[in-house]
Amino acid sequence: MLVTLQKLFQESLDIVAPKYAGKNVNAIIMVSVRAGFGDYQCNNAMQLSKLHNKGKPKTEQKSPFDVASEIAANVPENDVIAKCEPVNGFINIYLKEDFIKAEIKRLLATGSPIPPEVPYKRVVVDFSSPNIAKPLHVGHLRSTIIGDTICRLYEYCLGIPEGGVDVDPVCDWAAVEKAIEDEGENAKPAVIRTNHVGDWGTQFGMLIAQLKLEAPDFKEKMPDIGDLVTFYKRAKAHFDEDLEFKEEARRTVVKLQSHSPDEYAAWKKICELSRADFQVIYDMLKVSIAECGESFYNPLIPVVIKMMEDEGKAELDNGALCWFRDGKPDPDAPKSKKGQSASIPLILRKTDGGYGYDSTDMAAIYYRTQRLHADKIVYCTDHGQAPHFDLIFAAAKAMGWVEMGPDPEAVHVGFGLVKDTSGQKFKTRSGDTVGLRLLLDEAVGKVHAILKERSANRMTEEEMPEIAQKVGIAAVKYADLSSQRTKDYVFSFDRMLNLKGNTAVYLMYAYARISSIFGKAGTTKEALLETPEAIVLSEVAEERAAEVALMIHIARFQDEVVSTLKDLYPHRLCDYLYNLSVKISDFYEKCRVITDDAVMRESRLHMLLAAQLTMKKCFDILGIEPVEKL
Ligand code: ARG
Repeated sequence: MLVTLQKLFQESLDIVAPKYAGKNVNAIIMVSVRAGFGDYQCNNAMQLSKLHNKGKPKTEQKSPFDVASEIAANVPENDVIAKCEPVNGFINIYLKEDFIKAEIKRLLATGSPIPPEVPYKRVVVDFSSPNIAKPLHVGHLRSTIIGDTICRLYEYCLGIPEGGVDVDPVCDWAAVEKAIEDEGENAKPAVIRTNHVGDWGTQFGMLIAQLKLEAPDFKEKMPDIGDLVTFYKRAKAHFDEDLEFKEEARRTVVKLQSHSPDEYAAWKKICELSRADFQVIYDMLKVSIAECGESFYNPLIPVVIKMMEDEGKAELDNGALCWFRDGKPDPDAPKSKKGQSASIPLILRKTDGGYGYDSTDMAAIYYRTQRLHADKIVYCTDHGQAPHFDLIFAAAKAMGWVEMGPDPEAVHVGFGLVKDTSGQKFKTRSGDTVGLRLLLDEAVGKVHAILKERSANRMTEEEMPEIAQKVGIAAVKYADLSSQRTKDYVFSFDRMLNLKGNTAVYLMYAYARISSIFGKAGTTKEALLETPEAIVLSEVAEERAAEVALMIHIARFQDEVVSTLKDLYPHRLCDYLYNLSVKISDFYEKCRVITDDAVMRESRLHMLLAAQLTMKKCFDILGIEPVEKL
């Protein structure tokens, strides 16, 4: 709806603004937050009047109200707006009931809210991305949950089923590239879910050396090395205390880098074990993602470095090959604190000739933009990595691989730390994937207990485990997604399992309650979907107000998707969903659904269906599977 209103007001502003500002200005339309101030607001008049009045004698000045009135008067004839009411420098916009009704009927006719159009076709989302043999920590859990939702948001907008087409966790990237090449201009929209796992680096020397020590015949028979994290700790302790072993580890890295068969085989084994561990968590969360780890980019790094050198975008600094965003700093220049941080270079090749995190990410952004032809790339990590990505994006822009305008092609979606209820950094009991699995199991277990206590009359013992599984996982996901991602987030079972308030449990109850009303009314969603034209409004003012408020909120869904796309803050959708359930509650309070008046009853059941379809779409995007009874 915002888009429609923006267009209408833009037409008026194109006439009015040049008179007062001497130039064109964009229409500023917002949802009215306060009751009694219309459904939307236009906020341009204040600023236009200020611009106009500057330096003018009182007699020639225009009050914000005058300008607002003029804007309102120039809005073209339309079927959307019932009334534009200038108040000081604002215009309160009231929508036509017929328009809102038509929007709801359209939703019922299509069976699902229509997504906004997006200006890109192939999106790469780099998320989860744990490090092999190191613990998958709750930060990676956040990245997995937030990243999956961002994928789902794009999938929805691009008309791809949310959750992604079944991807193979071990992906054949050559085949993907070829398919993209073959499709050329006719490429189908795609969201490429990539796991940039840390599967390469010096730590593998130590791990492989330790593996060879503990199990010389690992190739024939992989030993049970226990969980990988304790294995990692064992290797690290050995590395730290035994000089001889340290040397051996170094030699091993070199051998691995030259793909010496034994070392390469050992590396593969360790990666496999780690992968299987991660997959357990992805399966529990129902997140699909394809691995394209650091090792994948190895052969590409020298190629990319060469390109940068050819473009004059690489220079030696103390033996390391670097790119300086603002040019190489003058060593004699006085050092200001700010100047120093601005000159931190991108390190393409380290002094020892090795490649690091920067080198790999340059190769990755090249690959994604030039070979996969992505027109949007999203990186989802904790916000501590923001400076790293800033530099990568700047270098890629300098190379002409990405555009970083108002809707940048590469974005970093950062998030805060996970804390426990006492404000400390959150740790799972065993600090590894096992710990994460136990954590998810615990959420499911707690929901199961709640169901036994509260829902025994609505479901059988047999039905409980599956419902508990869905609600438990949803609770963990939703708690994360509903808090503003850039803030630190407190992991608390008590809070996430609260039956009231902005929690998955509460929202899933609200959803299931609608299904239960359909049951009581002796109807089904399918039957209701066949008669979308059933919507009529009550003649009783109070009832009508609740009906309209609910329908307007439903019709606003697309606006919310548009704003979520802008800054990729999933909590916007959560807030929207929560407010929708509040509107549904108000609606129940004011309007009897199962009444003897057959026309009203049909209409209200349809309004509830529209609300439920919209809730369902929110759940789909948030990676939550709603349940029909709770
Ligand atoms: N493995 C990294 C970590 O655990 C995250 C990788 C993010 N993606 C990237 N392209 N750098 O911190």
